Amino acid sequence: MALDKIIISGGKKLKGNVSISGAKNAAVAVIPATLLADDICRIENIPNISDITLMCKIMSEMGASIKMVNKNTLEIDPRKVVSPVASYDLIRNMRASSYLMGALLGRFSKAVVSLPGGCNFGGIRPIDQHLKGFSSLGANCKLDGGVVHVSAEKLIGNNIYLDVISVGATVNIMLAAVKAEGCTVIENAAKEPHIVDLANFLNCMGANICGAGTDIIKIHGVKKLKGITYSIIPDQIEAGTYMIAAAATKGDITVNNITPKHLESITAKLEEMGICIEEKDESVRVYVNKDYMTRCNIKTLPYPGFPTDMQPQITTLLAIAHGTSIVSEGVWDNRFRYVEELRRMGAQISVDGKVAVIEGVQQLNGAAVRATDLRAGAALVIAGLSASGTTTIEEISHIERGYENIIEKFSNLGADIKKVTFDDSPMDSVAKAL
Ligand code: EPU
Repeated sequence: MALDKIIISGGKKLKGNVSISGAKNAAVAVIPATLLADDICRIENIPNISDITLMCKIMSEMGASIKMVNKNTLEIDPRKVVSPVASYDLIRNMRASSYLMGALLGRFSKAVVSLPGGCNFGGIRPIDQHLKGFSSLGANCKLDGGVVHVSAEKLIGNNIYLDVISVGATVNIMLAAVKAEGCTVIENAAKEPHIVDLANFLNCMGANICGAGTDIIKIHGVKKLKGITYSIIPDQIEAGTYMIAAAATKGDITVNNITPKHLESITAKLEEMGICIEEKDESVRVYVNKDYMTRCNIKTLPYPGFPTDMQPQITTLLAIAHGTSIVSEGVWDNRFRYVEELRRMGAQISVDGKVAVIEGVQQLNGAAVRATDLRAGAALVIAGLSASGTTTIEEISHIERGYENIIEKFSNLGADIKKVTFDDSPMDSVAKAL
């Protein structure tokens, strides 16, 4: 079987410009939301990543006709989708496929969707708040053999208080409620930029949603949603990843096509570490003009707090900062599995439950490591870029789920990075050695 790896020869300072792609977590909500439209939708600034390919495959299997206008633009015609059932085989590999529950429920008042996969941060990722929302709208929810069955005679708006702030539950309830009868109020809603992007998309289609971006979202149900052209917001996590890579290599880069406001929590922490940040309207310059970066403490929180999806990357930067830092994970139970890989590169990090204590070292050393999930993979790329010697990263399909053209973008910034395909069949290796 062929195995893809990323090989990095570290120690090159990143320099130049990088352009940020559309936000993965907005795109994976907007694409299923097109199922609610009565006509074709054209979606621009879609990141060309494997999670999107998978989402499109799932929707095509369901009958949607999807045309790739260019590598970042899709035209989706949802009119031929006639069944509220999504197939198990593809869905199990993707967390965001749970959005099909809300979209199908909103369209057919019925959805049959397998429990989703995606990054594993410790055990099964719960969907109790999604189901609580659907039930409040009048749906019956049943879990049978790993498949969620949700159906309603008629969806009727209601008040829903989320017990935990959940991006997924907020998205799913918006999708289910947008065509329901009457008014739905989501309290303690998630406020992430991709929630606002989804609300903007639905409103452009004719929905009546207000309050997205605050913790109370009001949705007045409408009868029809029209087809529109819409452009996805920039990916704040991809942007933050490049900003941290610039700092880790003591480089000087400009990150373009971003919304600086979405990056405030990341910018604030980088400045606290002594990294220079110059913000413009749609770009940010990041550079280091000191010999060392200073320690800091971080707690990840729902937006506008420091994003959990930047936790592995910032921990990697703190591993080469001066002094002792504490990183507390405030969203997921088990998001420090990658620390073991960083330790192989010389990082001094101890983890106790949801808290990591990081003793900064001068430099990391290249090693063979494995991406345990998407953002962990990004963190290992940053570690490899800053380290002395060669780093080989395995299981890079995790990285390709969420970063468009990562090799090309880092190469253009001057990194020595390549993707190589190895054959891991023992007989092939023997044959090659002979
Ligand atoms: N939770 C519940 N019950 C629920 C739903 C969530 O207890 O019904 C808990 C979770 O266990 C977790 C917390 O609430 O402790 C937050 O989970 P949330 O539902 O917000 O996460 P998600 O919607 O499954 C999205 C992103 C993740 C990101 C989280 C948090 C997408 C497709 N995924 O996941 O992104 O970590 O929000 O911001 O939007 C990534 O991009 O690398 C990624 C993992």
